[in-house]
Amino acid sequence: MCGIVGYVGRAEAPRALLQGLRRLEYRGYDSAGIATLNGAGIAVRKSVGRIADLERLVAEKPIHGHTGICHTRWATHGAVTQENAHPHFDQSGRLAIVHNGVIENYLDLRAALEEEGHVFRSQTDTEVLAHLVGREFDRQPAHTKGALVEALRTALGQVIGTYGIAMIHQDVPGVLIGARRGSPLVLGIGKGENLLASDAAAMVSHTRDVVYLKDYELAALDADGFQITTLQGDGAGYEISQVEYTEKDVSKGDYPHYMLKEIFEQSGTVRDAMRGRLVLDEATAKLGGLEMSNAELRDVERVVITGCGTALHAGMVGEYMIETLAHIPVECEFASELRYRNLPLPKDTLVFAISQSGETADTLAALRESQRKGHRTLGICNNVGSTIARESDGGVYMHAGPEIGVAATKSFTSQLVVQALIALLLGRLTHLSHSEGLNIIRELDKLPDKVAKALELNDEIARIARKYAQAKVMLFMGRQFNYPIALEGALKVKETSYIAASAHPSAELKHGVIALIDEATPSVFIAPRDAVFEKNLSNIEEVKARKGPVIAIGTEGDDHLGHVADDVILVPEAPDFLTPILTVLPLQLLAYHIAVELGRDVDKPRNLAKSVTVE
Ligand code: M6R
Repeated sequence: MCGIVGYVGRAEAPRALLQGLRRLEYRGYDSAGIATLNGAGIAVRKSVGRIADLERLVAEKPIHGHTGICHTRWATHGAVTQENAHPHFDQSGRLAIVHNGVIENYLDLRAALEEEGHVFRSQTDTEVLAHLVGREFDRQPAHTKGALVEALRTALGQVIGTYGIAMIHQDVPGVLIGARRGSPLVLGIGKGENLLASDAAAMVSHTRDVVYLKDYELAALDADGFQITTLQGDGAGYEISQVEYTEKDVSKGDYPHYMLKEIFEQSGTVRDAMRGRLVLDEATAKLGGLEMSNAELRDVERVVITGCGTALHAGMVGEYMIETLAHIPVECEFASELRYRNLPLPKDTLVFAISQSGETADTLAALRESQRKGHRTLGICNNVGSTIARESDGGVYMHAGPEIGVAATKSFTSQLVVQALIALLLGRLTHLSHSEGLNIIRELDKLPDKVAKALELNDEIARIARKYAQAKVMLFMGRQFNYPIALEGALKVKETSYIAASAHPSAELKHGVIALIDEATPSVFIAPRDAVFEKNLSNIEEVKARKGPVIAIGTEGDDHLGHVADDVILVPEAPDFLTPILTVLPLQLLAYHIAVELGRDVDKPRNLAKSVTVE
């Protein structure tokens, strides 16, 4: 939530900053702002609305300089106004700061500063931080880079909460300062220029060499170098890593929206999630990142899977997968609940935290709580070097590449593939035979082509979407492996179209939901040819008997659904546990096309941010 970028170098900072900020728009887009050191002082521009509004403002009233910071906001403290947009200034107006996170004790700090005569212009917690650092800096005997770092260190010692910060001061030109605790911050190491950002995607046009700052670390950057120290004032070790993706991967290419681009990338991303991980000889999966021996894996008594939103839905499919293939009891739990629940779990419980961003606050807290209880934790993340990936005891990367559309699409199918691999590995260590393992590998191997085939249905799905786009309410129904897919389909429609969509196990219809059925309420049934197909068919009949329109997602070759449903979308066949990877695709496309038909902001739905780093 909130995106920050900082630049110091020889080029014009506003250009680099705004280009980076566009890449971070997925993190929040209520308002945006930019500040640069222009030789005379600090030049600042802020605007309410999207980054495009800020760009227009900067084009009309240009600013210059070789050092600067910028921010895109997802409001937490204070309404969406120009005053509350970042950057914020200290009392002297010589220090500007952008911040991602929440300063929990800001009211106490603000009251104390006001007693000293400080005057605040916004309602934000961030402005308090700016005043605090500015006050400490003004107390320093000399106004040097070291003094600015020291002032920030002292100020952060008084703060309770989370932060990713970028900061500039007009008394220390050519210097950019950053700090992190609980909100991601990455250093981009360029030639004659260095950057700071919430996400490496903001910097790939400049460099792919990055350093992931750790919690309680501070960084001081100038055009030619950087130093990292800890909050205690010690030097900190660091590792320069290479970002896997390029600028091309973070651009929309010829697609009108990132969401559509990312949906269409899934044949490749499904392949990438299993690349190098299938071992034919042993008919199993190889997942070195788990950092567990076969003996340890065999001892796993119970699995808990946690996450939020789409990641949680993936975990629910994972629950069915692991229980079916490995016969280990699994519980899938909202991370926001797990963190406060005191689940009585056996010692040998394995906890999987699923998160595309690897930064979701609730998922991270659930992971830490599980570690506190002595459970081994494993991360299933997409963002390399993210907090969850680093803090878990081991894990599996999805390798889906950057996902920029706020609606998660390709990360979901990658999460499913990774969990299928985990289920295969655990199953092969217990009761799955060599030939059963081999069959699963063969089926996994066929998936990328089947995904590509399912995506060929795009035009037909666009037609169906136009037919139902005006619905006020939509229902999604599925059973077993495809009940979580109903949840995911409903979430996609809600978040991109703002249609009230709800999901239910098909058989629950009769217990209340059926009262909603009428001619204007479409029901989407996910009914592939699986063990519960006939049951689903009866549930569809119940809706049709009450004149409810039905869209059915089925399996190629099916000739039953056409007799009962109004619209039928058939995806390639697969074993039951892999069907979700195919049935979800039409639902993603359906949500996309409905949103387009309604003229919604598909990639940046209202009120949402891609990465939810606050509780
Ligand atoms: O980065 P994460 O996977 O941890 O994010 C979890 C949810 O915030 C995310 O899946 C959200 O529900 C998506 N917008 C859904 O499309």
